[in-house]
Parts: sequence; C-alpha cells; structure tokens
Amino acid sequence: MNAPVAPAETLRTAVAALLDGLPPKQAAQAVDRLIATYRGTTPTHSPILRDRADVAAYAAYRMPATFEAVHAALEAFADAVPDWTPAGHTDVGGGTGAATWAVTATWDGERPVTVLDWAEPALTLGREVATANPALRNARWQRERIGTALTLDPTDLVTVSYVLNELTAPDRAALVDTAAAAAQAVVIVEPGTPDGYARVIEARDRLIAAGFHIAAPCPHSAACPIVPGEDWCHFSARVSRSSLHRQVKGGSLAYEDEKFSYVAAARFPVAPAPTRVVRRPQIRKGQVLLDLCEAEEQLSRRTVAKRHGHLYKAARDAHWGDAWPPADR
Ligand SMILES: C[S@@+](CC[C@H](N)C(=O)[O-])C[C@H]1O[C@@H](n2cnc3c(N)ncnc32)[C@H](O)[C@@H]1O
Repeated sequence: MNAPVAPAETLRTAVAALLDGLPPKQAAQAVDRLIATYRGTTPTHSPILRDRADVAAYAAYRMPATFEAVHAALEAFADAVPDWTPAGHTDVGGGTGAATWAVTATWDGERPVTVLDWAEPALTLGREVATANPALRNARWQRERIGTALTLDPTDLVTVSYVLNELTAPDRAALVDTAAAAAQAVVIVEPGTPDGYARVIEARDRLIAAGFHIAAPCPHSAACPIVPGEDWCHFSARVSRSSLHRQVKGGSLAYEDEKFSYVAAARFPVAPAPTRVVRRPQIRKGQVLLDLCEAEEQLSRRTVAKRHGHLYKAARDAHWGDAWPPADR
C-alpha cells in the first residue's frame, strides 16, 4: 500500500486546466444542467454527458469529490487486505476515470487498467486527464454499454463508483454479478444518501451470495444491523473546493464534505476492522462518544474517558469511518 499523496494534487491541477478557455459562465451553466439532470428521473436511456462542455464541467466539479470518496473506500479496503495489491483494475461506468486515479493513490505501481463507459466524450476527456498520471499511461478507455449483455475479462479489482444510480434494477443486479464473476475484489461506491445506501446493501447481498467476504466498511459479512428506513450507513470525505465550486454554490468555504456509502469485498480471506466508527465522534469534556458498528452484528455507543489512558487519546484522534480501536492499540 503506502499511498503516495501526489495523485490528488495532480488530479486537481489537471481538471482545473480543463476549464481553461471555457468561459466561466458556460462552465457554471453546464454544471447547473448536470445537477438538474442528476436530480431528475434516473436511470437514463442515453448518456447524460453529451459533449465536451458537459464532461469538462462534470470532471472539474465532481471528479475531485468522487476521487476522495473512492480513495477513502479503497484505503479502508487496503487496511483489511494488507498483503494484497491488485495486479489489474477495471473501472465500470468509469466516466472520466476518478476511480482509476484513486486506485493509483492507494497502491503504488503500474497495472493493466481498463475504463468502460458508454459516453465517448467522458472517455476521451478521461484519457486526456490521465496523461498527467504516469501510472495510467497505458490505460484502455473503451466504449461499453452496461446491461445484462455486459461481459468483463478476468481482473483483480473491479470498481463501480457513482454508477448504480443510473441503472435499472435488472442492470444493477447483472453488473454486480458480472463484476463478482470476473474479479477477485469488488469496490462499489454510491452517494451517501438513504437510496445510495439501499443500492450498496443490495450489491453487498449479491456479493456475499457470490461467495465474497466483506472487507469494509462492515466488520462482518452477516446482515447489516441498520433497520431500513430508520438510518443509513455513510461516511464523509473532505474535498478542497475549486473556484468553479465557489462560483456554482456561492460562499467562500475552502472545502466541502462528500458523503458516500460503499462496500468493498473480496473472494479471498480478509481481515475487517474489529469495529468501525459510523458517525462523527462527539468530543465532550473528558470523554469521547463513539458510535460503532460491531463484529457482533450490532450498533453500539462507546464512551471512552480520560481514565482509559492511551485509548482516550486515540479516541480524540478518531475519525468517522476509521477502524476502532486503531490497529496499533
Ligand atoms: C455519475 S457518473 C460516475 C463516473 C465515475 N465512475 C466517477 O465516479 O466519477 C456515471 C457514469 O456512468 C455511466 N453510465 C451510466 N449508465 C451507463 C450504461 N448503461 N452503460 C455504460 N455507462 C453508463 C455514465 O456515462 C457516467 O460516466
């Protein structure tokens, strides 16, 4: 593992450069149109990313956020499979390739990479942006429609990020089953909403039925203890805001938090976290309240107080989404 940090910065610079020459008003309008489309009825029957302005706006506006979310999911996965490095990666519905960048940020080295998507303008732009990342210089960007007819060549890792939302229920199921048949490991990321979580749980069930072990975020491969409709499992990744963000959303905040749900699973044995922090820890005077998902298939709240010594210090440093207790405790 040993994540090099550089890809995040390189990606930010590369996507910011896409807007050079695109009048700020036009970029903002393209983002507005995309946001409206993504709020509309899904799944879609034809690509939403239609032309260069759409794709440049998508990449500049969304790619840094999906990169951070996928990267956080992959880091949690990597912690559960410390001796494993993917020897090949296929990103399905990969668009402009945010997940390919996240894989290179998680595991050093070069590997065969294939990005599949039905939107040619997204693939073209993804290929262009990827020239800034040496680990992606040989990636294949291939036009492919996800559906029940999709087949995937065998590979180590398949990622599916922010895609299930755009598919019909049969296509979602077929994609997860096809990914499970082709890969040693599958990582699925969706928006951190109740619907996104529901799609992740549906995929999680299918991966388990296909013989996979859940590596993250869950401490086990049994049923999720969250009662559907009452809550949803999601996490948060911090993303630096670009000038385009500030233009579209207003305000001057330097960052925003991308909420995401995910599941990472493998065909081979995994060592999931003993428990995972599933809410932002609450720091009180002399104590920290941790909401945890436990190996015993239940949620619990643990109070870690000053008298717990080094564990208290660790609790003060704990973040939403972390394994608990930290590995070196
Ligand atoms: C929200 S974007 C996510 C892109 C990328 N995975 C990311 O995380 O930034 C959804 C992608 O799924 C692709 N997509 C949606 N339905 C598809 C289908 N039926 N076949 C192939 N690609 C599809 C879109 O073209 C788009 O690139």
